[in-house]
Amino acid sequence: MTSSPRKLRSAEWFGTVDKNGFMYRSWMKNQGIPDHEFQGKPIIGICNTWSELTPCNAHFRELAERVRRGVFEAGGYPVEFPVFSNGESNLRPTAMFTRNLASMDVEEAIRGNPIDAVVLMVGCDKTTPALLMGAASCDVPAIAVSGGPMLNGKHQGRNIGSGTAVWQLSEQVKAGTISIHEFMSAEAGMSRSAGTCNTMGTASTMACMAEALGVTLPHNAAIPAVDARRSVLAHLSGMRIVEMALQGLTLSKLLTREAFENAIRVNAAIGGSTNAVIHLKAIAGRIGVELALEDWTRVGRGTPTIVDLQPSGRFLMEEFHDAGGLPAVLRRLGEAGLLPHPDALTANGRTLWQNVQDAPLWNDEVIRPLDKPLVADGGICILRGNLAPRGAVLKPSAASAHLLQHRGRAVVFENLEDYKARIADPALEVDADSVLVLKNCGPQGYPGMAEVGNMGLPPKLLAQGVTDMVRLSDARMSGTAYGTVVLHVAPEARAGGPLAVVQSGDWIALDCAGGRLHLEVSDEELQARLAVWAETRQAIPADGSGYRKLYVEHVLQADEGCDFDFLVGCRGAEVPRHSH
Ligand code: FES
Ligand code: MG
Repeated sequence: MTSSPRKLRSAEWFGTVDKNGFMYRSWMKNQGIPDHEFQGKPIIGICNTWSELTPCNAHFRELAERVRRGVFEAGGYPVEFPVFSNGESNLRPTAMFTRNLASMDVEEAIRGNPIDAVVLMVGCDKTTPALLMGAASCDVPAIAVSGGPMLNGKHQGRNIGSGTAVWQLSEQVKAGTISIHEFMSAEAGMSRSAGTCNTMGTASTMACMAEALGVTLPHNAAIPAVDARRSVLAHLSGMRIVEMALQGLTLSKLLTREAFENAIRVNAAIGGSTNAVIHLKAIAGRIGVELALEDWTRVGRGTPTIVDLQPSGRFLMEEFHDAGGLPAVLRRLGEAGLLPHPDALTANGRTLWQNVQDAPLWNDEVIRPLDKPLVADGGICILRGNLAPRGAVLKPSAASAHLLQHRGRAVVFENLEDYKARIADPALEVDADSVLVLKNCGPQGYPGMAEVGNMGLPPKLLAQGVTDMVRLSDARMSGTAYGTVVLHVAPEARAGGPLAVVQSGDWIALDCAGGRLHLEVSDEELQARLAVWAETRQAIPADGSGYRKLYVEHVLQADEGCDFDFLVGCRGAEVPRHSH
């Protein structure tokens, strides 16, 4: 039995011999909990995003059981609770729409309950940022346990990657190079075990971000979901969180500015998802760390992408784990002096560098040497200009080198429905040099900023063998997707950004090296168009009622992390009033 000199939060519920203590304990005892469990043991919340509607997290009941064992072994008492589960594959209009909702659920569940520390069970894309955001606003001791990636997908005797295969195969069907039968036969083979997307999509990226931020144990990001070592990691995380509770090792001691800079550097090295730009900003905002888009340029640019995973490269997460996982990447970066803050503290009480300095690296094809990178400059490219005064992003490692410097005429789609109605029209005036522009898919406009930015190319160009074009929108893109795609244009069209008034035929200049995105229209013309837009804006339908109304009225733009304006900041875990 652990009795600590530190006053535990849970003692405010269970530690008094009076009416309130009676009530808090008595109802808990209906679960068959003996009285001694309430005598000062750390109470460890296991915040679970299990759901059968979130297939990537559907194995979390078993994984949480492993965490429980670890908590018991270390002398804590585990209490598991559910929170809103954001399943990327099923949720409409997009799982991003409910990321902030889930974060509110997490925050209030932690703060309102007798919890001394919390294990965050995360996996599918939005669950990782949502739980870190909520826990950060409470600033309690917390450790994240990811669900782990699926085993390699299999199709016709070869490996295929989650998501990436869908984008590739569906384009091949449209181009007529494979049959619809072949396409459909890939469906079951792509997702053949429990776990998250096995590409370096957003789930794997955010798992790597969590590990780089130091809020997980080493190797959390890459161990496959069904590997026995994933269960061991969950068990050890359960043990460790009890110590963190006793030490008062809260998130603000881990989520420092230094930790975020390490994560930004790591994102470049792994060829991580553009979604990380939004999620890291939102998490940082909750803990009070200032992060600007330019930090991605300053810290990330110039960093080689050395992890050769789809969608940028060849391999999948199973091979990444076999090659040494994120610790091997961190060691390689650190030995070259490319880890900005090796002394950053991590969840196990050691520094990032202490954790990885002896990490083995087994495969130079999967985790390449720095002088043989997949992409020499892999950092997320931040763009600004009269078309994106508050920024836009592009992922060079997923783009075509010859399009990173490009000038082309806009082919404009007013919204996703307009795009779908016209993209396959043989009469559409478009060629390989055109810039496909999609509006009204941003945070307010969609709403929820859906992953539609990597819009499929016109079938007539696909049939000619065109495989990439410059695309531009206020949307996001799946981390499993690829292409020369300008995303997160801010302000978005719906909020009156210049994107709203781009017209078909306008010239657009993209200059990734210079960080510039320019609409070749005079300032006077742009202002005149925006004035007309503002006058007609009332024609946009009102956003009704319910959560959608709250969302549209309070969501911040992409450069601010798409959090709700009223959720930014750390509010701590104090609740002075009892419930009776
Ligand atoms: Fe859940 Fe990719 S859809 S991780
Ligand atoms: Mg995704």
